Amino acid sequence: MAFIQIQQNLLLISVFLFQQSQGFTFTSESSFSIEKGTGNQNCESYACKDPAQNYSKNTCLYYNTEFSMWYADPCSKSSQYCKQDTQNANDPHANYTCETYTSFNAALPGEYCEKIYMCNTAYTSGCSNNVCKAISSLDQACQNTKQCESGTYCYIPDQATQGTCQAQIPIDGECTSYKLCANNAICNYTSTVNNVPVGKCKAFGSFNNHDYVGSCDFLDGIHTFGYNDLCPSGYCAPSGNSYMCLESVTSSQGLPVLCNNDPINMINATTGCTSNKDSLLGVSVTSACDCANNYNAEAYCNLFSGDPTMAKFRQYLTKWTQSKEILKCNLMGRYDLLCVKAHWDKDNAAAYTYYFYAAYFYPEIVEADDCVLSVTNYGYKMAKKAYNDDLASLIGVSFLVMMALH
Ligand SMILES: *[C@@H]1O[C@H](CO)[C@@H](O)[C@H](O)[C@H]1NC(C)=O
Ligand SMILES: *[C@@H]1O[C@H](CO)[C@@H](O)[C@H](O)[C@H]1NC(C)=O
Ligand SMILES: *[C@@H]1O[C@H](CO)[C@@H](O)[C@H](O)[C@H]1NC(C)=O
Ligand SMILES: *[C@@H]1O[C@H](CO)[C@@H](O)[C@H](O)[C@H]1NC(C)=O
Repeated sequence: MAFIQIQQNLLLISVFLFQQSQGFTFTSESSFSIEKGTGNQNCESYACKDPAQNYSKNTCLYYNTEFSMWYADPCSKSSQYCKQDTQNANDPHANYTCETYTSFNAALPGEYCEKIYMCNTAYTSGCSNNVCKAISSLDQACQNTKQCESGTYCYIPDQATQGTCQAQIPIDGECTSYKLCANNAICNYTSTVNNVPVGKCKAFGSFNNHDYVGSCDFLDGIHTFGYNDLCPSGYCAPSGNSYMCLESVTSSQGLPVLCNNDPINMINATTGCTSNKDSLLGVSVTSACDCANNYNAEAYCNLFSGDPTMAKFRQYLTKWTQSKEILKCNLMGRYDLLCVKAHWDKDNAAAYTYYFYAAYFYPEIVEADDCVLSVTNYGYKMAKKAYNDDLASLIGVSFLVMMALH
């Protein structure tokens, strides 16, 4: 699992890590793009523990050197997560053991909390009514936007080390950074004044395919495409002296696309996973290859924004940015699962969370056993269950309505 630094204008999402598995260290600052992959092709095999195997209590993941395989045995309590033993820090195959969460310390102001230890102590002042409280409100002192209450950002004058929380700029207002726009908007740069880009705050995803955009973030400077969430696809590419929104391209091959040990397509980390081409610019998008947590130690390509599961996630993401609830979040956590959970209605929040995991962790999930996912992708498992329970209750309701009509 790769950790990617924040990129301006990129989709920033923190994972609801509470009870998440394998001790993966996400913070609220994790950002995801389809490039999250490590390109690591030395994947390992995962299977469920055989009932005949006798593990010591609390071992949730055990590497059998004889078979070169990981065996999973999910933790019995939902308050536990599976963490790798650290006695021998250099052993990548050390056992994983069930542990109870006592520390999380990641939720930003406006985000969901059950216990005070879930709120990030650097930016919050406690958990009240299941929401972390901001340290500073409008006009109060701040060093970081994460300390500011919803609807505000930390304005720090040049040369100063401290500033005050000031109101975010609404749609169509003038902006010099995406960090100034309201939670539902992104700055579209149109000119430069004294080397500072200047533009207008525009609604998330409000541009059309092949519209010009003022910026395009290239993760590595190598790819011929970049990211801007003003574009419905999230993708953009250079065009003339400016940048243009790309279409929601899809994988150029049928899903799932195997990208290691593939005798037919010969896709690997070097060749890369590619989308079909944008019909106007002829540019294709690449995605990273990530290991699956399955028996055959396979790796699969990450999804593109036009692929069904990712398209579904972007549909909910856009809906979230158009809701009034997004305005209750801290600017730096506006797409966070924990913020969605705190403020959106249950059905939408369940769908958003499920599609987030299903889309961004797609390669890991392909053909993985259920009991393995309970250990390696617990967040996905829980989100899937909540989403399915929700669907079931919706179907139940419409069934009752139908009965009443007849
Ligand atoms: C498993 O090991 C425990 C002690 O570690 C022992 O008490 C138990 O009988 C063993 N079970 C089996 C099926 O071997
Ligand atoms: C790892 O877990 C297995 C199964 O529970 C156990 O037999 C073994 O002693 C553990 N190894 C270490 C180093 O703790
Ligand atoms: C966004 O910025 C680009 C590049 O400066 C400009 O061409 C385009 O008209 C702007 N779009 C809107 C909706 O303002
Ligand atoms: C990746 O595939 C290409 C083309 O099929 C091949 O030439 C190259 O050796 C492969 N690289 C690895 C690391 O397998």
